[in-house]
Amino acid sequence: MIKGLHRLEYRGYDSAGIALLNGSLTIIRRKGKVKELEDFAEGQNLVGTVGIGHTRWATHGKPDDRNAHPHLSGNGRLTLVHNGIIENYDTLKKALEKLGHEFTSETDTEVLVHLIEELQSRDNLPIEEAVRVALQKVVGAYAIVVIDKEDPEKLVAARKASPLVIGIGNDDFYIASDATPIIEYTKKVVYLNDEEIAVVKKDGNLQIFTINNELQKPKVQELDMEIERLEKAGYDSFMLKEIYEQPQTIADAMRGRMNAGESWIRLGGIAEYANKMVNAKRFIIVACGTSWHAGLIAEYLFEDLARIPVEVEYASEFRYRNPIINENDVVIALSQSGETADTLAALELAREKGALIYGIVNVVGSSISRLTDAGSYIHAGPEIGVASTKAFTGQLTLLTLMALKIAHLKGNITNSYFHELLTELENIPAKIERILEKSPKIEYIAGEFKNTNNALYLGRGYNFPVALEGALKLKEISYIHAEGYPAAEMKHGPIALIDENMPVIVIANNKSAYEKIASNIQEVKARKGVVIAIVEEGDDFIKNMADYTIEITATEEPLSPLLSVIPLQLLAYYIAIQRGCNVDQPRNLAKSVTVE
Ligand code: F6R
Repeated sequence: MIKGLHRLEYRGYDSAGIALLNGSLTIIRRKGKVKELEDFAEGQNLVGTVGIGHTRWATHGKPDDRNAHPHLSGNGRLTLVHNGIIENYDTLKKALEKLGHEFTSETDTEVLVHLIEELQSRDNLPIEEAVRVALQKVVGAYAIVVIDKEDPEKLVAARKASPLVIGIGNDDFYIASDATPIIEYTKKVVYLNDEEIAVVKKDGNLQIFTINNELQKPKVQELDMEIERLEKAGYDSFMLKEIYEQPQTIADAMRGRMNAGESWIRLGGIAEYANKMVNAKRFIIVACGTSWHAGLIAEYLFEDLARIPVEVEYASEFRYRNPIINENDVVIALSQSGETADTLAALELAREKGALIYGIVNVVGSSISRLTDAGSYIHAGPEIGVASTKAFTGQLTLLTLMALKIAHLKGNITNSYFHELLTELENIPAKIERILEKSPKIEYIAGEFKNTNNALYLGRGYNFPVALEGALKLKEISYIHAEGYPAAEMKHGPIALIDENMPVIVIANNKSAYEKIASNIQEVKARKGVVIAIVEEGDDFIKNMADYTIEITATEEPLSPLLSVIPLQLLAYYIAIQRGCNVDQPRNLAKSVTVE
């Protein structure tokens, strides 16, 4: 079980716990990473044939032993782990307190286990029925697993808006938030749908029914995932491994979907909805974080190449803004995990309004991939480092293919430019290899800036979103405050921050607006700022102005973010390492944000 929790740890790591049933119920919970729990458990005689475990990313209640899961019912009979948020927990808690329930934690989860207990003991219900009735009273998101000490042969699991997958072994079951802890035991899985409850029994029986008590037929699927992809493969961290995997993952994202020599692109999802895509009045891209940055680059791609107006929305803002969505809009969701709660909710809204929904997602079988009308998987393999790297470039590759395909179908792009861009896309993996060879230089530059408190990232056009992404990478893994700005916007405010202590990272590999970027660098230098410039190989003009340069191979401008982001990922990585930070599990973050 601890091994499974380690695999899931990238989803949250502020506290962890397990409960084991073996005649009696043993629960241990620990603040901190799974390792703390593991060390604490070592030497204790912990055995059981039924158990649940959890690694937490705090929502309600600070990370400490008391708020860690599993949570116990007041009568000590039920224990439960939960991902998600019970939004009406306060109302439920007050009602339960009136009935005499006492709570020992600040969590919404403890309220749920007390609610199940109350219903079970009031009406003498079997555990699965008590769970079902309780969930009818709950508002919010949940993936839960419950054990009943008095009914020790079964586990009850349920989900709504938080993922849950059941692995079916030879004579055992595994339940988890994603398939990563299951894969080494079985490849046969069932993904639970929203508002479904599963009961797994020791005798091998699996039953699924809805919260309205309709029996469902389990749909068993085969996992297409190799265990090796979940290991570090000799790298110091998953993040470094994933940065280095990018030549491969970009090639994988293109594989079978294009051929430069024969000048074609085939994207299944687009072929199916070609008419709708070509005639779309507008594309609306919804995403969060790094995926949102990929969306901003897509705005340039779709408008520039396919001449389709694009709006790029933070999923969390979009859904609460009463947005105007029409039937001839195409909504594109970008998500590595396919589970981000805000993105998922934005898509549900778009679906209600009748828009076509296209997903670009990495995790196969994830909630977003199942909600979309069509889409393309990134095929980057599991991304475990919390800071997204290879999923970002994978998303960009697919967005480029999409823009090119639609531009071609619409006749907005000449055959020769189409061919040129495809040929260049095929060259991108090799060009990234060349950048990766520059790691020692980037590591050296990182050493020069590891003690800075602030950093400014500037870019223009296609590379403005890359500036945002570079700043985000630095912030999240090194805890240095960083901001990304369109280079020309700098003079409208951020220029006030520039002095000899302010490193300014300028992405200057654009062909268009090159002179303008050079002028922006001059403006920084005139105020004693320290410039680190990302330039095309052989660019001596900017090299002479900047304090440090990182050279990257030239490419077509629409493809330039695929290259310019690589040195920024490495810079953030080396700065964080030299500051002694845990790059794979930065503080306060979680990989898959399944709460709003
Ligand atoms: C940053 C990062 C996050 C995610 C965001 C969306 O490095 O990883 O900003 O990009 O939480 O996640 P997905 O793409 O899974 O929807």
